[in-house]
Amino acid sequence: MNIKYFFLSTILICLFESCKLNPQSQSTTQTVHPALYPIDAGTKGVAASRWPETPVADLVKGQSIYYANCSKCHELPKIEQFSERKWIHEIDEMAPKAELSSSEKDLLSKYVLSFRDAHSTH
Ligand code: HEC
Repeated sequence: MNIKYFFLSTILICLFESCKLNPQSQSTTQTVHPALYPIDAGTKGVAASRWPETPVADLVKGQSIYYANCSKCHELPKIEQFSERKWIHEIDEMAPKAELSSSEKDLLSKYVLSFRDAHSTH
């Protein structure tokens, strides 16, 4: 083997391996579609009036939980399609399926219900 190719392939293998080892490149589930159900002014406004003690950072956590944990078995449900009543029921049913802790369930609920309230017509 030509020595140049030997070095070149060694470098390529190193790059490939460091990519695999870099945890950053693996965490693709955190914020998959930030624009799909955004934490916009409407969503923030609902959260601020219903849960004044909840910081926007908690909505961001709820959104990450939604994207990462609720698209494993089916498509991510369209948030605005269901009533609040139906959402509360579904979150109760799905939290154990998604193995959410009670605090994760709480964060998810605030995010989903705020977005829903701001965007749904029913
Ligand atoms: C382990 C697989 C699994 C996970 C994880 C999961 N689901 Fe589901 N989901 C299902 C199955 C199966 C159904 C349909 C049967 C049922 O309702 O139990 C369903 C149905 C639903 C429905 C009802 C859809 C309709 O048209 O009525 C909603 C809403 C929903 N899931 C939301 C969620 C949310 C929110 C999460 C995250 C907390 C989640 N799911 C995580 C398996 C899962």
